[in-house]
Amino acid sequence: MVSTFPIAPTLDLSKVRLDIRNLQRDLVQWRRQIHQQPELAFDERQTATLIAAKLTDWGIDHQTEIAKTGVVATIASSNPGPVLAIRADMDALPIQEANDVPYRSQQEGKMHACGHDGHVAIALGTAYYLAQHRDAFCGTVKFIFQPAEESVGGAKPMIEAGVLQNPDVDGIIGLHIWNNLPLGTVGVRSGPLMAAVECFRCTILGKGGHGAMPDQTIDAVVVASQVVNALQTIVSRTIKPLDAAVVTVGEFHAGTALNVIADTARLSGTVRYFNADLEGTIGDRINTIIGGICQSHGATYDLNYWQLYPPVINDTAMAELVRSVAADVIEPDLGIVPDCQTMGGEDMSFFLQAVPGCYFFLGSANPAQGWDYPHHHPQFDFDESVLCMGVELFVRCVERFGREDR
Ligand code: NI
Repeated sequence: MVSTFPIAPTLDLSKVRLDIRNLQRDLVQWRRQIHQQPELAFDERQTATLIAAKLTDWGIDHQTEIAKTGVVATIASSNPGPVLAIRADMDALPIQEANDVPYRSQQEGKMHACGHDGHVAIALGTAYYLAQHRDAFCGTVKFIFQPAEESVGGAKPMIEAGVLQNPDVDGIIGLHIWNNLPLGTVGVRSGPLMAAVECFRCTILGKGGHGAMPDQTIDAVVVASQVVNALQTIVSRTIKPLDAAVVTVGEFHAGTALNVIADTARLSGTVRYFNADLEGTIGDRINTIIGGICQSHGATYDLNYWQLYPPVINDTAMAELVRSVAADVIEPDLGIVPDCQTMGGEDMSFFLQAVPGCYFFLGSANPAQGWDYPHHHPQFDFDESVLCMGVELFVRCVERFGREDR
């Protein structure tokens, strides 16, 4: 086989670990700085400014204001090789922080309650380390600091803005700090990791009237109740039992008084599934069920159905790369968790549709310290020793990706 690029110089891995452990204080400082100034989707201006200032200090090429607030940085090594992208999301949530810590959020009603502050710190630490060691790996690394993971999605507009080109990205990795796993474990698997997210809003229109004279009305509450019940048959009766899926009605609003029959009912909900072949099918089924029930009662309806994110599907070879790096990095008694699928969604999926890649979970829960609240909880926090683990995993993935014998 002809080499397309040289074998990478072998990193002294014990030295890599030591160097990265020495970054821990900086990593914590960056994370806390970002934590104190949380910014919501597409408003991550201070965060982007902080990232850009560090990249400038470290002599790393970068562009700002991509898809509004995104930042992309490129570090070319001294050796030719492939291009690996590392993605970090930057946005916070509209949650009032309930933690009493010196680094608590200084923004009323906004909080980094998902760990994206840590993701930015880990990506910055990785960029800093690699910029100092350009001779220690092959190829190029592109850092994608992405806005708006939590709401409408910043991944797609960043891809449309061309972040995967020039130079063309050959693979992509990303991680989520994960309080559902113990500190120091890694959750990684090939294939579907996280679910597709689809959403619907439906208004059912009947005919209102007196609560004592139902014969003169079309009761929107009764029609909508039958809809809610019938939607339960989608997963149980029409999806293959081995294909996991969820249909949840999260909102049901109707009525104004106890003796008035409601003319309108509003339902909204979310749909999740792993199998990309199901795209479109559950939405069609929802439409058919609502249409049939409304017709049988003489009601009409208006349905809005849309996909937010496709499923997060890891490439087999990239998942194996992350798995083998993690096996080297993490303590053997902690281990790798292959059974780490979740019905949560992530717009990392758009990057994974565009290039082969792997998204993985880095366990961050430390119950002894009270750092095991779920993501999106007002008391969410994580064990910050996860930061240098994240950097070490990324650095070693970069080194492994650049190697001909990976
Ligand atoms: Ni998140």
